[in-house]
Amino acid sequence: MRILFASAEVAPFAKVGGLGDVAGSLPKAINELGNDIRVIMPLWGCIDKDKFDLQDVPDSTITLKLDAKNVSVSLKQTKLPDSDVIVYFVVNNEYFGSLNEVYPKNCEAEVEQERFLVFGIGSLKLMEKISFKPNIIHCNDWHTANIPVYLKGSKNHFNFYTSSSVLFSIHNLAYQGIYGKEILDFANISSEKVFTPDGLEFFGDVNWMKGAIVYSDQINAVSKTYAHEIQIPEFGEGLDGLLGLRNYKLTGILNGIDYNIWNPKSDSLIQTNYSADDLSGKKECKKALQKKFKLDQKLSIPLLGIVSRLVDQKGLDLLANIANDLKDSSLQLIVLGTGDEKYEKIFRKLTKNTSNIKALIGYDNNLAHQIYAGCDMFLMPSRFEPCGLGQLIALRYGTVPIVRKTGGLADTIIDYTADNELGNGFIFDKYSSDELLDTINKAIKLFKTKKIWKHIVINAMNCEFSWQKSALEYQNLYKNLIKRR
Ligand code: ADP
Ligand code: GLC
Repeated sequence: MRILFASAEVAPFAKVGGLGDVAGSLPKAINELGNDIRVIMPLWGCIDKDKFDLQDVPDSTITLKLDAKNVSVSLKQTKLPDSDVIVYFVVNNEYFGSLNEVYPKNCEAEVEQERFLVFGIGSLKLMEKISFKPNIIHCNDWHTANIPVYLKGSKNHFNFYTSSSVLFSIHNLAYQGIYGKEILDFANISSEKVFTPDGLEFFGDVNWMKGAIVYSDQINAVSKTYAHEIQIPEFGEGLDGLLGLRNYKLTGILNGIDYNIWNPKSDSLIQTNYSADDLSGKKECKKALQKKFKLDQKLSIPLLGIVSRLVDQKGLDLLANIANDLKDSSLQLIVLGTGDEKYEKIFRKLTKNTSNIKALIGYDNNLAHQIYAGCDMFLMPSRFEPCGLGQLIALRYGTVPIVRKTGGLADTIIDYTADNELGNGFIFDKYSSDELLDTINKAIKLFKTKKIWKHIVINAMNCEFSWQKSALEYQNLYKNLIKRR
């Protein structure tokens, strides 16, 4: 099969959150099953062209006529590290190259809309230019949602793709790309065809996510529980009704993680390597981390970690509410993250005013590895969590997840108090600070009993969340789509 995998972020070139991890690892696993899968992303200014050996694709320059504007785009290419997977980069300085962040904080909404239209239409026209005709186009989140609208909705000027099927993966329904109708002029889409209540239209505006749900041949959510949740109002972000009506083409496939990148046995970014058979290196990692954050270097104090985008989704208000209970108590907490100012401020203040809660506000891949390795527990009290990779990485490093029962967290974590045999973490159900605090306290109590704790750590490390199983599920989905044509 030939597959084009389109994503705004792809690790290691440019990553903000889990979407980047998925786009940098799932295609490798699909490729290993014998498929010709190629990835396409914008050439953001922050991508290091020399480090990743980006090469020009000869004769790839084309001009897109978008409303009254001529936009020139071309292609560069390289491979995903340690693989044969070709990655294409759509080159345009105004829309992509001038940006050092994938999603700049103060970006004007109109510019953001234009940016992802240039990416979507540019990707399609560029693949046509180099004659790569995919059987499947796998789009991810709203940034690529215009692709199914072009191919299956407005259909103008895209005859090259009449035999291609579109799969749209929902990584996060909270971001939908909503904008005024006038953007359709820039998109060269005639409003009569698609700007209707059963098309793109959403309370008088254009909603690209909605368009993708309507027009894609298949929709996929990144865990089974999230696929159910998004059909109810609490998680549906206004699209639950539509998703319920379209659930005949909605599946849920759990994400995996790249077991070569996230591997405590061989990870070169951590203090000392370790495995389930010999956990002594994990203690060294803990001490190094405590030292780095100027915390008491005692192994007996439970060390909790967070690596996260600092946004409402992640349940950080629950944590802020119990900060008084946690501060100066017999635990340590390290937070690595960046995002909404209100959370950055809270964690900066706690860093200044407490002896045991320390945050680094920013994005730091090396430190993320060190936190996954050095902590005893990993906190993810999310309000909603489509899949969550943080808890999967934590499991791999024997760092016991404490999570809320939602989305992919519910699908991957087994509560130890409910299942003493297989438990790999701790779960609470209700979105409440009290429940979070109780659960942390429960975990800390068990941490003191070395034998029990080791049992939980080993259970965590023995979990299998590589891409092996899920890549096969994706391959089946692709095959069924081709069969259905
Ligand atoms: P989401 O995609 O919602 O952000 P996930 O748990 O699926 O959440 O994935 C987050 C990914 O981003 C993980 O690989 C995590 O380690 C990484 N990450 C998040 N914040 C940071 C940060 N500040 N520095 C380094 N890595 C981060
Ligand atoms: C999103 C979700 C997260 C998921 C990631 C990758 O950003 O918030 O839960 O793991 O995408 O699918």
